[in-house]
Amino acid sequence: MTLGLIEPASGPLTGYCRVPGDKAISHRAAILAALATGVSSISGFSSAGDCRATLAALAALGADVRHLGGTVQVNGRGGEAAGASTSRVVDCHRSGTTMRLLSGVAASWQGVTVLTGDPQLLRRPMERVANPLRQMGAGVETEPAGRPPLRFTGGRLSGISFTSPVASAQVKSAVLLAGLRASGTTVVWEPIPTRDHTERLLIAMGASLSVVPSEEGTQIRVSRSSLRPLHLAVPGDASSAAVIMAAAALVPGSDVVLQGVSGNPSRLGLLQVLLRMGGSVEVSPEIGLESPEPTVTLRVRHAPLRGTSVSAAEVPLLVDELPLVGLLATQAEGATEVRGAAELRVKESDRIRGLVDGLRALGGDVEELPDGFVVEGPRRLGPARCDSLTDHRLAMTFALAGLVAAGPVEVSGLEFVEDSFPGFLECLDRLR
Ligand code: S3P
Repeated sequence: MTLGLIEPASGPLTGYCRVPGDKAISHRAAILAALATGVSSISGFSSAGDCRATLAALAALGADVRHLGGTVQVNGRGGEAAGASTSRVVDCHRSGTTMRLLSGVAASWQGVTVLTGDPQLLRRPMERVANPLRQMGAGVETEPAGRPPLRFTGGRLSGISFTSPVASAQVKSAVLLAGLRASGTTVVWEPIPTRDHTERLLIAMGASLSVVPSEEGTQIRVSRSSLRPLHLAVPGDASSAAVIMAAAALVPGSDVVLQGVSGNPSRLGLLQVLLRMGGSVEVSPEIGLESPEPTVTLRVRHAPLRGTSVSAAEVPLLVDELPLVGLLATQAEGATEVRGAAELRVKESDRIRGLVDGLRALGGDVEELPDGFVVEGPRRLGPARCDSLTDHRLAMTFALAGLVAAGPVEVSGLEFVEDSFPGFLECLDRLR
Protein backbone atom coordinates (compact mmCIF):
# COMPACT_ATOMS: atom_id res chain seq x y z
CA MET A 1 0.00 0.00 0.00
CA THR A 2 1.36 3.44 -0.89
CA LEU A 3 1.24 6.64 1.12
CA GLY A 4 0.02 9.66 -0.85
CA LEU A 5 0.98 13.13 0.30
CA ILE A 6 -1.52 15.94 -0.28
CA GLU A 7 -0.18 19.47 0.19
CA PRO A 8 -2.48 22.32 1.28
CA ALA A 9 -3.97 24.34 -1.59
CA SER A 10 -1.96 27.55 -2.06
CA GLY A 11 -4.94 29.35 -3.62
CA PRO A 12 -8.46 28.80 -4.93
CA LEU A 13 -9.42 25.86 -7.16
CA THR A 14 -10.56 27.23 -10.51
CA GLY A 15 -11.41 26.01 -13.99
CA TYR A 16 -13.08 23.08 -15.69
CA CYS A 17 -12.83 19.41 -15.02
CA ARG A 18 -14.39 16.27 -16.53
CA VAL A 19 -15.02 13.25 -14.39
CA PRO A 20 -15.05 9.66 -15.72
CA GLY A 21 -18.28 8.01 -16.86
CA ASP A 22 -20.72 7.10 -14.12
CA LYS A 23 -19.72 3.86 -12.44
CA ALA A 24 -23.22 2.69 -11.46
CA ILE A 25 -24.59 3.35 -14.96
CA SER A 26 -21.57 1.72 -16.66
CA HIS A 27 -21.94 -1.53 -14.67
CA ARG A 28 -25.60 -1.77 -15.56
CA ALA A 29 -25.20 -0.79 -19.20
CA ALA A 30 -22.59 -3.54 -19.75
CA ILE A 31 -24.57 -6.24 -17.94
CA LEU A 32 -27.85 -5.36 -19.64
CA ALA A 33 -26.12 -5.19 -23.03
CA ALA A 34 -24.92 -8.77 -22.47
CA LEU A 35 -28.53 -9.78 -21.71
CA ALA A 36 -29.83 -8.13 -24.91
CA THR A 37 -29.83 -9.68 -28.34
CA GLY A 38 -27.62 -7.74 -30.75
CA VAL A 39 -24.83 -5.17 -30.63
CA SER A 40 -24.98 -2.45 -27.96
CA SER A 41 -22.60 0.48 -27.86
CA ILE A 42 -21.81 2.38 -24.68
CA SER A 43 -19.71 5.54 -25.02
CA GLY A 44 -18.11 7.31 -22.07
CA PHE A 45 -17.87 3.96 -20.26
CA SER A 46 -16.21 4.35 -16.87
CA SER A 47 -12.50 3.61 -16.71
CA ALA A 48 -12.83 2.70 -13.00
CA GLY A 49 -11.30 -0.54 -11.73
CA ASP A 50 -14.75 -1.72 -10.57
CA CYS A 51 -16.21 -1.36 -14.07
CA ARG A 52 -13.22 -3.14 -15.60
CA ALA A 53 -14.09 -5.97 -13.21
CA THR A 54 -17.62 -6.12 -14.67
CA LEU A 55 -16.33 -6.21 -18.26
CA ALA A 56 -13.81 -8.93 -17.41
CA ALA A 57 -16.49 -10.95 -15.61
CA LEU A 58 -18.84 -10.71 -18.60
CA ALA A 59 -16.05 -11.74 -20.96
CA ALA A 60 -15.23 -14.70 -18.68
CA LEU A 61 -18.90 -15.70 -18.93
CA GLY A 62 -18.62 -15.79 -22.69
CA ALA A 63 -19.95 -12.35 -23.64
CA ASP A 64 -18.44 -10.68 -26.69
CA VAL A 65 -17.06 -7.40 -25.25
CA ARG A 66 -14.86 -5.02 -27.24
CA HIS A 67 -13.23 -1.66 -26.46
CA LEU A 68 -13.11 0.94 -29.21
CA GLY A 69 -11.45 3.95 -27.54
CA GLY A 70 -13.77 5.05 -24.73
CA THR A 71 -16.67 3.10 -26.25
CA VAL A 72 -17.56 -0.41 -25.19
CA GLN A 73 -19.34 -2.64 -27.66
CA VAL A 74 -21.16 -5.72 -26.41
CA ASN A 75 -22.62 -8.29 -28.77
CA GLY A 76 -25.33 -9.73 -26.54
CA ARG A 77 -26.65 -13.26 -26.91
CA GLY A 78 -29.73 -12.94 -24.76
CA GLY A 79 -27.83 -13.54 -21.54
CA GLU A 80 -27.05 -17.21 -22.06
CA ALA A 81 -23.97 -18.31 -20.14
CA ALA A 82 -21.13 -19.98 -22.01
CA GLY A 83 -20.88 -23.72 -21.38
CA ALA A 84 -24.38 -24.13 -19.93
CA SER A 85 -23.72 -27.33 -18.01
CA THR A 86 -20.18 -26.67 -16.84
CA SER A 87 -18.97 -24.94 -13.75
CA ARG A 88 -18.00 -21.28 -13.99
CA VAL A 89 -15.92 -19.26 -11.51
CA VAL A 90 -16.13 -15.49 -11.91
CA ASP A 91 -13.76 -13.04 -10.22
CA CYS A 92 -15.54 -9.80 -9.26
CA HIS A 93 -12.28 -8.36 -7.85
CA ARG A 94 -13.20 -5.54 -5.44
CA SER A 95 -16.57 -4.65 -6.89
CA GLY A 96 -19.70 -5.27 -4.80
CA THR A 97 -21.92 -3.98 -7.61
CA THR A 98 -20.45 -6.54 -10.03
CA MET A 99 -21.10 -9.38 -7.61
CA ARG A 100 -24.60 -8.35 -6.55
CA LEU A 101 -25.88 -7.49 -10.03
CA LEU A 102 -24.40 -10.61 -11.61
CA SER A 103 -26.11 -12.63 -8.87
CA GLY A 104 -29.45 -11.67 -10.40
CA VAL A 105 -28.22 -12.95 -13.78
CA ALA A 106 -26.53 -16.14 -12.55
CA ALA A 107 -29.62 -17.12 -10.54
CA SER A 108 -31.39 -18.52 -13.62
CA TRP A 109 -28.44 -20.30 -15.24
CA GLN A 110 -28.08 -24.07 -15.41
CA GLY A 111 -24.87 -25.58 -14.04
CA VAL A 112 -22.78 -24.11 -11.26
CA THR A 113 -21.67 -20.47 -11.16
CA VAL A 114 -19.38 -19.22 -8.42
CA LEU A 115 -18.95 -15.48 -7.84
CA THR A 116 -15.82 -14.64 -5.88
CA GLY A 117 -13.40 -11.73 -5.44
CA ASP A 118 -10.62 -10.00 -3.51
CA PRO A 119 -10.35 -10.30 0.29
CA GLN A 120 -12.04 -6.89 0.69
CA LEU A 121 -15.11 -8.12 -1.24
CA LEU A 122 -15.13 -11.47 0.57
CA ARG A 123 -15.97 -9.60 3.81
CA ARG A 124 -19.17 -8.04 2.48
CA PRO A 125 -22.72 -9.26 3.24
CA MET A 126 -24.39 -11.23 0.44
CA GLU A 127 -27.45 -12.81 2.09
CA ARG A 128 -29.31 -9.63 1.17
CA VAL A 129 -29.23 -10.81 -2.47
CA ALA A 130 -29.08 -14.58 -1.87
CA ASN A 131 -32.30 -14.55 0.18
CA PRO A 132 -34.73 -13.08 -2.37
CA LEU A 133 -33.11 -15.10 -5.18
CA ARG A 134 -33.70 -18.29 -3.17
CA GLN A 135 -37.32 -17.21 -2.67
CA MET A 136 -37.56 -16.96 -6.46
CA GLY A 137 -36.38 -20.57 -6.78
CA ALA A 138 -32.62 -20.24 -7.33
CA GLY A 139 -30.12 -22.56 -5.65
CA VAL A 140 -27.74 -20.18 -3.82
CA GLU A 141 -25.15 -20.85 -1.15
CA THR A 142 -23.05 -18.32 0.70
CA GLU A 143 -20.16 -18.90 3.08
CA PRO A 144 -20.96 -18.98 6.80
CA ALA A 145 -22.05 -15.52 7.99
CA GLY A 146 -23.51 -14.84 4.56
CA ARG A 147 -20.23 -13.78 2.94
CA PRO A 148 -19.01 -14.56 -0.61
CA PRO A 149 -18.12 -16.65 -2.55
CA LEU A 150 -21.69 -17.09 -3.79
CA ARG A 151 -22.44 -20.47 -5.38
CA PHE A 152 -25.40 -20.67 -7.76
CA THR A 153 -26.73 -24.06 -8.82
CA GLY A 154 -29.54 -22.96 -11.13
CA GLY A 155 -33.28 -23.25 -10.75
CA ARG A 156 -36.54 -22.27 -12.38
CA LEU A 157 -37.41 -18.79 -11.19
CA SER A 158 -40.86 -17.46 -10.37
CA GLY A 159 -41.84 -13.90 -9.56
CA ILE A 160 -42.09 -12.77 -5.92
CA SER A 161 -43.25 -9.67 -4.12
CA PHE A 162 -40.23 -8.36 -2.24
CA THR A 163 -39.43 -5.52 0.15
CA SER A 164 -35.73 -5.36 0.93
CA PRO A 165 -34.87 -5.03 4.63
CA VAL A 166 -32.07 -2.64 3.55
CA ALA A 167 -32.55 0.31 1.19
CA SER A 168 -30.17 -0.90 -1.53
CA ALA A 169 -30.15 -0.30 -5.28
CA GLN A 170 -27.88 -3.33 -5.67
CA VAL A 171 -30.39 -5.66 -4.03
CA LYS A 172 -33.28 -4.14 -5.98
CA SER A 173 -31.33 -4.53 -9.22
CA ALA A 174 -30.42 -8.18 -8.54
CA VAL A 175 -34.10 -9.04 -8.02
CA LEU A 176 -35.21 -7.09 -11.11
CA LEU A 177 -32.56 -8.82 -13.26
CA ALA A 178 -33.73 -12.22 -12.01
CA GLY A 179 -37.31 -11.08 -12.70
CA LEU A 180 -36.43 -10.80 -16.42
CA ARG A 181 -36.10 -14.61 -16.46
CA ALA A 182 -38.82 -15.52 -13.96
CA SER A 183 -42.32 -16.75 -14.70
CA GLY A 184 -45.06 -14.39 -13.54
CA THR A 185 -44.50 -10.87 -12.26
CA THR A 186 -41.75 -9.81 -9.88
CA VAL A 187 -42.63 -6.88 -7.64
CA VAL A 188 -40.06 -4.86 -5.68
CA TRP A 189 -41.32 -2.43 -3.05
CA GLU A 190 -39.07 0.44 -2.08
CA PRO A 191 -40.20 2.34 1.00
CA ILE A 192 -37.18 4.66 0.56
CA PRO A 193 -36.07 5.41 -3.03
CA THR A 194 -32.60 4.35 -4.16
CA ARG A 195 -30.78 5.04 -7.44
CA ASP A 196 -32.97 4.03 -10.38
CA HIS A 197 -30.49 3.40 -13.21
CA THR A 198 -31.52 -0.24 -13.65
CA GLU A 199 -35.16 0.72 -14.13
CA ARG A 200 -34.33 3.55 -16.57
CA LEU A 201 -32.08 1.36 -18.74
CA LEU A 202 -34.46 -1.60 -18.70
CA ILE A 203 -37.31 0.61 -19.90
CA ALA A 204 -35.06 2.04 -22.65
CA MET A 205 -34.26 -1.52 -23.74
CA GLY A 206 -37.92 -2.50 -24.05
CA ALA A 207 -38.33 -4.57 -20.88
CA SER A 208 -41.80 -5.05 -19.53
CA LEU A 209 -41.26 -2.89 -16.43
CA SER A 210 -43.35 -0.28 -14.66
CA VAL A 211 -42.57 2.08 -11.80
CA VAL A 212 -45.50 3.26 -9.67
CA PRO A 213 -44.75 5.80 -6.94
CA SER A 214 -47.23 6.10 -4.05
CA GLU A 215 -47.43 7.51 -0.50
CA GLU A 216 -46.08 4.23 0.94
CA GLY A 217 -43.16 4.07 -1.46
CA THR A 218 -42.38 2.94 -4.97
CA GLN A 219 -43.57 -0.28 -6.57
CA ILE A 220 -41.50 -1.68 -9.45
CA ARG A 221 -43.02 -4.51 -11.47
CA VAL A 222 -41.11 -6.53 -14.03
CA SER A 223 -41.93 -9.63 -16.03
CA ARG A 224 -40.10 -11.95 -18.38
CA SER A 225 -38.66 -9.82 -21.19
CA SER A 226 -36.17 -9.90 -23.99
CA LEU A 227 -34.06 -6.77 -24.35
CA ARG A 228 -33.14 -4.79 -27.44
CA PRO A 229 -29.57 -3.46 -27.70
CA LEU A 230 -28.63 -0.27 -25.86
CA HIS A 231 -27.02 2.82 -27.38
CA LEU A 232 -25.97 5.03 -24.52
CA ALA A 233 -23.61 7.93 -23.79
CA VAL A 234 -22.79 7.47 -20.11
CA PRO A 235 -22.86 10.81 -18.24
CA GLY A 236 -20.03 11.80 -15.89
CA ASP A 237 -19.99 10.03 -12.54
CA ALA A 238 -22.21 11.77 -9.98
CA SER A 239 -20.14 10.52 -7.04
CA SER A 240 -16.81 11.59 -8.57
CA ALA A 241 -18.36 14.98 -9.35
CA ALA A 242 -19.41 15.18 -5.70
CA VAL A 243 -15.76 14.90 -4.66
CA ILE A 244 -14.80 17.85 -6.83
CA MET A 245 -17.87 19.78 -5.64
CA ALA A 246 -16.77 19.22 -2.06
CA ALA A 247 -13.22 20.35 -2.90
CA ALA A 248 -14.50 23.60 -4.41
CA ALA A 249 -16.86 24.15 -1.49
CA LEU A 250 -13.96 23.72 0.96
CA VAL A 251 -11.13 25.78 -0.56
CA PRO A 252 -11.69 29.56 -0.13
CA GLY A 253 -12.19 31.52 -3.35
CA SER A 254 -12.79 28.44 -5.51
CA ASP A 255 -14.94 28.52 -8.65
CA VAL A 256 -15.13 25.22 -10.54
CA VAL A 257 -17.26 24.04 -13.46
CA LEU A 258 -18.05 20.38 -14.09
CA GLN A 259 -19.63 19.51 -17.42
CA GLY A 260 -21.45 16.39 -18.55
CA VAL A 261 -22.31 15.12 -15.07
CA SER A 262 -25.19 12.74 -14.33
CA GLY A 263 -28.22 14.79 -13.35
CA ASN A 264 -30.21 11.78 -12.17
CA PRO A 265 -32.08 13.06 -9.08
CA SER A 266 -31.49 9.75 -7.27
CA ARG A 267 -27.76 10.61 -7.26
CA LEU A 268 -27.86 14.28 -6.32
CA GLY A 269 -28.23 13.95 -2.55
CA LEU A 270 -24.88 15.62 -1.86
CA LEU A 271 -25.90 18.60 -3.97
CA GLN A 272 -29.07 19.02 -1.87
CA VAL A 273 -27.14 18.70 1.41
CA LEU A 274 -24.45 21.13 0.25
CA LEU A 275 -27.09 23.69 -0.73
CA ARG A 276 -28.65 23.29 2.73
CA MET A 277 -25.24 23.92 4.28
CA GLY A 278 -25.06 27.25 2.44
CA GLY A 279 -22.97 25.98 -0.48
CA SER A 280 -23.11 27.79 -3.80
CA VAL A 281 -23.94 25.44 -6.70
CA GLU A 282 -25.60 26.31 -10.01
CA VAL A 283 -27.15 23.41 -11.90
CA SER A 284 -27.83 23.77 -15.65
CA PRO A 285 -29.47 20.93 -17.55
CA GLU A 286 -27.60 20.02 -20.73
CA ILE A 287 -29.73 19.76 -23.82
CA GLY A 288 -28.69 16.85 -25.97
CA LEU A 289 -29.86 13.66 -27.54
CA GLU A 290 -32.72 12.07 -25.70
CA SER A 291 -31.25 9.70 -23.16
CA PRO A 292 -32.65 7.64 -20.30
CA GLU A 293 -30.05 9.35 -18.09
CA PRO A 294 -30.04 13.18 -17.83
CA THR A 295 -26.85 15.27 -17.87
CA VAL A 296 -26.11 18.60 -16.16
CA THR A 297 -23.36 21.22 -15.83
CA LEU A 298 -22.47 22.18 -12.27
CA ARG A 299 -20.76 25.39 -11.20
CA VAL A 300 -19.54 25.27 -7.60
CA ARG A 301 -18.16 28.25 -5.71
CA HIS A 302 -16.75 28.40 -2.23
CA ALA A 303 -19.14 29.87 0.36
CA PRO A 304 -19.30 29.81 4.16
CA LEU A 305 -20.97 26.60 5.35
CA ARG A 306 -23.29 25.83 8.27
CA GLY A 307 -24.17 22.50 9.90
CA THR A 308 -27.16 20.41 8.85
CA SER A 309 -28.89 17.08 9.52
CA VAL A 310 -29.07 14.14 7.13
CA SER A 311 -31.96 11.76 7.80
CA ALA A 312 -32.40 8.05 7.03
CA ALA A 313 -34.78 8.81 4.13
CA GLU A 314 -32.08 10.87 2.44
CA VAL A 315 -29.19 8.45 2.97
CA PRO A 316 -29.57 6.31 -0.21
CA LEU A 317 -29.40 9.46 -2.34
CA LEU A 318 -25.87 10.20 -1.11
CA VAL A 319 -24.78 6.94 0.49
CA ASP A 320 -21.33 7.07 -1.13
CA GLU A 321 -20.92 10.79 -0.42
CA LEU A 322 -21.47 10.69 3.36
CA PRO A 323 -17.73 10.70 4.15
CA LEU A 324 -17.56 13.98 2.20
CA VAL A 325 -20.40 15.36 4.35
CA GLY A 326 -18.29 14.52 7.42
CA LEU A 327 -15.34 16.46 6.04
CA LEU A 328 -17.46 19.43 4.90
CA ALA A 329 -18.95 19.51 8.41
CA THR A 330 -15.50 20.11 9.96
CA GLN A 331 -15.44 23.44 8.09
CA ALA A 332 -19.10 24.37 8.76
CA GLU A 333 -20.45 26.51 11.58
CA GLY A 334 -22.30 24.38 14.17
CA ALA A 335 -23.20 20.69 14.35
CA THR A 336 -23.82 18.30 11.45
CA GLU A 337 -25.62 15.04 12.22
CA VAL A 338 -25.89 11.99 9.98
CA ARG A 339 -28.23 9.21 11.19
CA GLY A 340 -29.84 6.14 9.66
CA ALA A 341 -26.63 5.31 7.80
CA ALA A 342 -25.63 1.99 9.41
CA GLU A 343 -25.10 0.65 5.85
CA LEU A 344 -21.83 2.62 5.84
CA ARG A 345 -20.40 -0.02 8.16
CA VAL A 346 -20.62 -2.71 5.44
CA LYS A 347 -19.24 -0.81 2.44
CA GLU A 348 -15.67 -1.31 1.15
CA SER A 349 -14.69 -0.63 4.78
CA ASP A 350 -16.53 0.32 7.96
CA ARG A 351 -16.84 3.88 6.70
CA ILE A 352 -18.20 5.28 9.96
CA ARG A 353 -15.21 3.99 11.93
CA GLY A 354 -12.70 4.92 9.22
CA LEU A 355 -14.13 8.42 8.82
CA VAL A 356 -14.29 9.11 12.55
CA ASP A 357 -10.70 7.91 13.06
CA GLY A 358 -9.42 9.95 10.12
CA LEU A 359 -11.25 13.15 11.06
CA ARG A 360 -10.06 12.82 14.67
CA ALA A 361 -6.46 12.35 13.48
CA LEU A 362 -6.93 15.60 11.55
CA GLY A 363 -8.14 17.42 14.69
CA GLY A 364 -11.88 17.22 13.95
CA ASP A 365 -14.48 17.14 16.72
CA VAL A 366 -16.44 13.98 15.87
CA GLU A 367 -18.82 11.69 17.75
CA GLU A 368 -19.34 8.17 16.44
CA LEU A 369 -22.93 6.85 16.41
CA PRO A 370 -23.97 3.26 15.66
CA ASP A 371 -25.66 4.49 12.48
CA GLY A 372 -23.82 7.71 11.67
CA PHE A 373 -21.81 10.53 13.20
CA VAL A 374 -21.99 14.06 14.60
CA VAL A 375 -19.35 16.63 13.64
CA GLU A 376 -18.94 19.98 15.40
CA GLY A 377 -17.34 22.75 13.36
CA PRO A 378 -15.54 24.71 12.29
CA ARG A 379 -12.13 23.28 13.25
CA ARG A 380 -8.72 24.05 11.74
CA LEU A 381 -7.46 20.69 10.54
CA GLY A 382 -3.83 19.89 11.17
CA PRO A 383 -1.26 17.94 9.21
CA ALA A 384 -1.99 14.26 9.82
CA ARG A 385 -1.71 10.71 8.59
CA CYS A 386 -5.07 9.13 7.66
CA ASP A 387 -5.79 5.49 6.91
CA SER A 388 -8.10 4.89 3.94
CA LEU A 389 -8.65 1.26 5.04
CA THR A 390 -8.12 0.53 1.28
CA ASP A 391 -11.45 2.29 0.65
CA HIS A 392 -11.53 4.66 -2.34
CA ARG A 393 -14.20 6.93 -0.85
CA LEU A 394 -12.25 7.44 2.39
CA ALA A 395 -9.01 7.94 0.44
CA MET A 396 -10.55 10.79 -1.58
CA THR A 397 -12.15 12.36 1.50
CA PHE A 398 -8.82 12.47 3.35
CA ALA A 399 -7.06 13.79 0.23
CA LEU A 400 -9.48 16.74 0.21
CA ALA A 401 -8.74 17.31 3.90
CA GLY A 402 -5.14 17.85 2.79
CA LEU A 403 -6.23 20.80 0.65
CA VAL A 404 -7.57 22.74 3.66
CA ALA A 405 -5.29 21.44 6.44
CA ALA A 406 -2.55 23.54 8.06
CA GLY A 407 0.06 21.09 6.70
CA PRO A 408 0.35 18.07 4.41
CA VAL A 409 -1.93 15.08 4.90
CA GLU A 410 -0.58 11.58 4.28
CA VAL A 411 -3.21 9.17 3.00
CA SER A 412 -2.51 5.45 3.09
CA GLY A 413 -3.90 3.53 0.13
CA LEU A 414 -4.45 6.58 -2.06
CA GLU A 415 -4.02 4.27 -5.06
CA PHE A 416 -7.45 2.76 -4.33
CA VAL A 417 -9.10 5.92 -5.77
CA GLU A 418 -8.69 4.02 -9.07
CA ASP A 419 -11.59 1.78 -8.01
CA SER A 420 -14.01 4.59 -8.88
CA PHE A 421 -12.20 7.77 -10.00
CA PRO A 422 -9.13 7.24 -12.18
CA GLY A 423 -7.57 10.66 -12.82
CA PHE A 424 -8.70 12.07 -9.45
CA LEU A 425 -5.31 13.58 -8.57
CA GLU A 426 -4.82 14.92 -12.11
CA CYS A 427 -8.25 16.55 -11.91
CA LEU A 428 -7.32 18.28 -8.64
CA ASP A 429 -3.94 19.35 -10.08
CA ARG A 430 -5.65 20.90 -13.10
CA LEU A 431 -7.84 23.01 -10.80
CA ARG A 432 -5.02 24.11 -8.46
C1 S3P B 1 -24.53 1.10 -5.89
C2 S3P B 1 -25.39 1.24 -4.84
C3 S3P B 1 -24.96 1.57 -3.49
C4 S3P B 1 -23.57 2.20 -3.49
C5 S3P B 1 -22.60 1.47 -4.35
C6 S3P B 1 -23.11 1.39 -5.78
C7 S3P B 1 -25.09 0.67 -7.19
O1 S3P B 1 -24.90 0.37 -2.73
O2 S3P B 1 -23.08 2.30 -2.17
O3 S3P B 1 -21.36 2.14 -4.34
O4 S3P B 1 -24.43 0.83 -8.23
O5 S3P B 1 -26.20 0.16 -7.19
P1 S3P B 1 -26.23 -0.19 -2.03
O6 S3P B 1 -27.23 -0.30 -3.11
O7 S3P B 1 -25.90 -1.54 -1.49
O8 S3P B 1 -26.56 0.82 -0.98
